[in-house]
Parts: sequence; structure tokens; C-alpha cells
Amino acid sequence: MTSEYRHIPVLLAECLEQLALQTHHTFVDATLGFAGHSREVAKILGEEGTLIGIDQDEVALASSSATLESLSLGNAPRFELLRGNFGDLDELLVSAEVPGIDAILFDLGVSSVQIDTPSRGFTFKENGPLDMRMDPGKQTLTAQEIIETYNAADLTRIIRAYSDEKWASRIADFIVRARETERIETSEQLVEIIKAAIPASARRAGGHPAKRTFQALRIEVNSELTVLRQGLDAAIRWLNPGGRIAVISYHSLEDRIVKDTFASFANRCTCPPDLPVCMCGKQPVLDIVTRKPILPTPEEIERNPRARSAKLRVAVKR
Ligand SMILES: C[S@@+](CC[C@H](N)C(=O)[O-])C[C@H]1O[C@@H](n2cnc3c(N)ncnc32)[C@H](O)[C@@H]1O
Ligand SMILES: [Zn+2]
Repeated sequence: MTSEYRHIPVLLAECLEQLALQTHHTFVDATLGFAGHSREVAKILGEEGTLIGIDQDEVALASSSATLESLSLGNAPRFELLRGNFGDLDELLVSAEVPGIDAILFDLGVSSVQIDTPSRGFTFKENGPLDMRMDPGKQTLTAQEIIETYNAADLTRIIRAYSDEKWASRIADFIVRARETERIETSEQLVEIIKAAIPASARRAGGHPAKRTFQALRIEVNSELTVLRQGLDAAIRWLNPGGRIAVISYHSLEDRIVKDTFASFANRCTCPPDLPVCMCGKQPVLDIVTRKPILPTPEEIERNPRARSAKLRVAVKR
């Protein structure tokens, strides 16, 4: 199987329905990955349409470029694939020379292909280096550097804040103690340290004991939450009136940011709550389509376990 087929797009039908694409639309896939969503979008857009795909991962971009070209569509839209971080969406869209966009999709996190490549260091299920950089060409901070250099307080802070791990401070202490006697270089070593730090009685609940700490390290390495806020803000500004934004998130920290960002653009009034009427005059710029997020069906989760934690939120620009 080639890598592109190991990645099954999540909530595909739901995204296509919610994006409400028309043949002439300009669509941005902010997390192109293996073009699981974009290859279907490409079939909807016509030759007056534009598909802009962004990813910071070179491997994903190269694969998607081949995929999109091989579609050999009769009325193919203009494709533009851009290597970069969606935190820099303004610069990326300026370089694509589009005046505005009609739809944008964020399918957050890492692709199954990235997770399934142990040398990238994202997985706790197989042994590999502690890397976790989504863009190794540009980023210097790795998970290993965090493990080697952050003090116990900072390790505790990131593990707790980015994963809700109850045992954050014990894990941090165990890491600090372990690194006094050996270099912690592999995911296997780190998993053993985390297992030792979490009492056996607590280890049975909540999935793999290393899952949360690995998530926290990945968020720290890639500044994922900061970048997400920047990307969403820019995306909403670039939307044309009636344009739609759809975001698939995979954990509660991401979902909270999406929900709060949509809410703040849907209610721009910044007056103190005790003022009887609005004095600031700031107008809402967004209508929220999904008061509650759209979730995958049990059948989809059965087919693609990675969809399990997915939540799709959608909004329309006024
Ligand atoms: C879940 S995958 C997307 C999968 C895609 N929708 C598909 O079905 O093939 C997320 C992709 O977004 C990329 N990515 C994550 N964060 C990014 C960021 N801040 N900027 C650019 N790309 C990012 C990852 O490299 C990965 O390829
Ligand atoms: Zn107001």
C-alpha cells in the first residue's frame, strides 16, 4: 500500500456537505496531508475554481501533488500547493495571489503516515528518536531537547496544561531523576519512565499511560495552540461573505480554541456585560453553523479508529 492510502480522511462526507462548494470557488486546505479531503474537493471545483493546499510536511506535499495531478479531471481547478505553516496563513495566501477565499478546512494534528513513521518520533507505540517536529527543516526544538533541558517545573507545566495528565509532576520528577543517570533518547526509554511514574492502580484507566505526555510534548515542540489561534484568526479574515470555515480537532484543547474563536467572531461586542445597550458598535462577522460539533458515526469509527476523537465545527462569514 502506498502511504497516501494509509490515511483515510476523517468526516469526509460531513466536510464536503458543510463546505458548500461551488465550481468557481477558491478553497484552501490548510492541512493538506495526503489530500484525502482535497482530492474529493478537486472533483467538485471546476476550471474556474482554485484549490490551495498547505502543509508544512514535505513528504505529504510531494505525495499530494502527485495524487492531485493523477486525478486527470476534465475541468480541473487551478491547483497551488504551498509548503508552510498555517500560522503564517497571511503570507501564504498573499503569495497565492487570491483576493479572498470561499471555504477553508483545517484537519488538525499529524497524519497517520507521520504517526506510523517511527523515525519522526510521534508514536509511543514503537521505538524511535524523540523528535516530533512537523517541519524538521525549519524547527530546531525537538522533544528530546525538552526532555533534556526543561526543569521539573516547566515539564510539569507543559504536561499538565497540554494534556490534563494527573500525574504530571510525578512524571516530570521521574524524567529529571532518570536523566541524571542516562541520556533519554528514545520513545521506548521515555515510555518506561512514564510507566514507572504512574502508579499501577491508576494505569488501567485512560488509555496508554504515555499517550497524554506524548501529546503534550508534540504540542510544545510545534507550538500547536498558538499557531492554531493565528491560523483561525487569519482564515476568518480572508473569508469572503458567505464563505465557510470547517475545523476538525482531535482533543479538547484544540476544540476549545476553535469554539472560543468562533464565538468571539460571532459576538464582536466588547462592552462590559452590565451595559444595557451596546456602545462599542462592533458587529458580529461570523454565524456559527454547528452549535454542537459534528461527530463521526459509529460506523466511521469502526472503519477508521483515528476518527474516534474527531469534532467538526463550522461557521459562515457574514
Ligand atoms: C490530520 S492530517 C490531514 C489529513 C488530510 N486532511 C487528509 O485527509 O489527507 C494533518 C496535516 O496537517 C499538517 N499540519 C499540521 N499542523 C500544521 C501547521 N501548523 N501548518 C501546516 N501544516 C500542518 C500535518 O503535517 C499533516 O500532514
Ligand atoms: Zn458593544
